[in-house]
Amino acid sequence: MHIKLTKGNPIWGIMRKIVVLRLGHRIERDQRMTTHVALTARALGAEGMLLASRDKSIEQSISDVTKRWGGAFYVRSGVKWRSEIKKWKESGGKVCHLTMYGVGLEEIDALRDTENLMVIVGAEKVPAEVFALADWNIAITNQPHSEVAALAIFMDRLQKGEELRKEFRGGELQIIAMRAGKKVKRIKNLKSF
Ligand SMILES: C[S@@+](CC[C@H](N)C(=O)[O-])C[C@H]1O[C@@H](n2cnc3c(N)ncnc32)[C@H](O)[C@@H]1O
Repeated sequence: MHIKLTKGNPIWGIMRKIVVLRLGHRIERDQRMTTHVALTARALGAEGMLLASRDKSIEQSISDVTKRWGGAFYVRSGVKWRSEIKKWKESGGKVCHLTMYGVGLEEIDALRDTENLMVIVGAEKVPAEVFALADWNIAITNQPHSEVAALAIFMDRLQKGEELRKEFRGGELQIIAMRAGKKVKRIKNLKSF
């Protein structure tokens, strides 16, 4: 089943667009983690990831994944986080920052009623200004863990598990799910694999 993000969707409220903003990426030590943030965002229903450091290799590797496995996910690196948040809010979007210092998921219904949602995750220490700019500072428990785990749980709670049925169209490869073994269907001829 293909989930349409349309107004009035009974599960998603009126939400149409989720974008992840990744802060604090250090090119020499966070590449693997930031790649996993992007893969998680893509697999669980975000339309793209903004990266507040320039890293063309992450843009390229995620674009390769999307080409192979479908969908229209993008990564835009080298963005200025402050102006991206301000632009987002000026155009009517809401901002949710995931942080162990925040409150729990009690207000998740209000988030679901948001048309366009930016979800912020950090790497190193997140500037205090982000806490103030966010409409919600949400904790996935008040214990320290990982941005990937926090993002995955948040995306799942937000979308009530519907994201697990999302289809990714236009890719070159598709997994044929099975109880044992691995089967991948080739949808287009690949030049290299
Ligand atoms: C490894 S943590 C580092 C946080 C950093 N030490 C600080 O004080 O801001 C990286 C990111 O994971 C996310 N994170 C970690 N634990 C979390 C939690 N319990 N709830 C929500 N997000 C969490 C936050 O987005 C955080 O910025």
